[in-house]
Amino acid sequence: MTASGTGPRVIDLFSGAGGLSEGFRQAGYNVRLGLDFDAEACRTHAFNHPDATILNTDVHEVSGKDLLAESGFGEVDVMIGGPSCQGFSTQGRRGSWASEDDPRNMLYRQYARLVGDLRPEWFVMENVPGLLWFNKGEFGRRIFDQFESLGYQIQHKIVLAADFGVPQLRRRLMIVGNRVGKVFQWPEQTHMGAVRRDAIALWEKRRLEKFPHLERHLTLWDAISDLPAISAGGGVEERRYTKAPLTAYQAALRGSSDLLFDHQATPLPQVHLDLIKHVAEGQTWREIPQELLPERFAKIRRTDGTNLFARPDRNRPSYTIITQFGNVTTGAYTHPNQDRAFTAREGARIQSFPDDFRFIGNLTSKYRQIGNAVPPLLARRMAEALTVSMSGESAELVLDLDFRNAVAREQAAAERDDLLPAAM
Ligand SMILES: C[S@@+](CC[C@H](N)C(=O)[O-])C[C@H]1O[C@@H](n2cnc3c(N)ncnc32)[C@H](O)[C@@H]1O
Repeated sequence: MTASGTGPRVIDLFSGAGGLSEGFRQAGYNVRLGLDFDAEACRTHAFNHPDATILNTDVHEVSGKDLLAESGFGEVDVMIGGPSCQGFSTQGRRGSWASEDDPRNMLYRQYARLVGDLRPEWFVMENVPGLLWFNKGEFGRRIFDQFESLGYQIQHKIVLAADFGVPQLRRRLMIVGNRVGKVFQWPEQTHMGAVRRDAIALWEKRRLEKFPHLERHLTLWDAISDLPAISAGGGVEERRYTKAPLTAYQAALRGSSDLLFDHQATPLPQVHLDLIKHVAEGQTWREIPQELLPERFAKIRRTDGTNLFARPDRNRPSYTIITQFGNVTTGAYTHPNQDRAFTAREGARIQSFPDDFRFIGNLTSKYRQIGNAVPPLLARRMAEALTVSMSGESAELVLDLDFRNAVAREQAAAERDDLLPAAM
């Protein structure tokens, strides 16, 4: 781990374990301050970013002045951060439970308040794509308006982590603002592949014919195949590796670490252990005999494309890792050939955290911190693109005149799940 210290001065709000901080640090930025009200996430951030101060407090309690004083900066070059927005997760985009009044969905206002106080030249805000199209795009428009009224030119994009070398089909919204008229040059994708299972062959043909300079999406197995077998509830916090890395990705994340940390799996109740035995690799809850399924499954149509109880295919990227990835009932979190959920370290590998990045807290907290994070590799690609953009010329951006149409197009593309790589 190299020390930060000299690069552009960064404050990370809602810093969690520090996935975003880690990517910016790797790209040479001087991340000097994090803030989060989760005490264990703060301890993780402090452990892995010893040069940074971490404020374990509620964002509502601090002013820009406080942040400057704590960071030791005279001014801030870049504000980064991902305010939680649980109500707008993509799963909930049609759900009536997503409410604009939910205080958890108002945290972006705190982010904007502190951008207004500190007036960094740039900011990068990460969030779930659903925020953009909630209430037919009104919510996203309001967020953009707020930043524009502070004098920032806004750009946004929904990025797929797998396109940047992360072995995960995680889509996230990135909003970048600049207040001196500079244009953000988005990072070029480095990898290519299908999101939908039925389009894999089509995308691979397209890649080989038209984009041979792009690598194929990394797979779950590229990320975790070197890790020792353990059982549900098993594993230890610290042990030695049992074999050499099997892929370049594994070797890169191991770096110089000779110890394997957090390869621990959450215990599963017997009833879930019995149920996942019915699900083979690449299958989901639909293979479980109806009479054995918990009652709530009776309401789910068998044709619904949910990943509940899914056991992912090792030859594809992982599905999105969320805070609950220790709970096999809620997503594709069962190991491909072992009857258990992913371990915390497997989750960290899927998120592209280096193996020497330590998570502090109990196992549930570690799962939460890992699932919440921006994949450091994606954050790093954004940070590198920002470095290029910083030295670019100022130019007036031609923004979408009809924001709602733009949002509708983005939603339609995400819902098609990139069936055809036509946009490229
Ligand atoms: C999506 S996570 C951020 C993850 C982080 N960017 C990373 O890459 O690891 C959002 C974080 O916001 C924190 N949070 C939520 N409400 C907060 C508040 N009112 N004040 C401070 N932190 C808050 C949560 O504890 C959580 O760690």
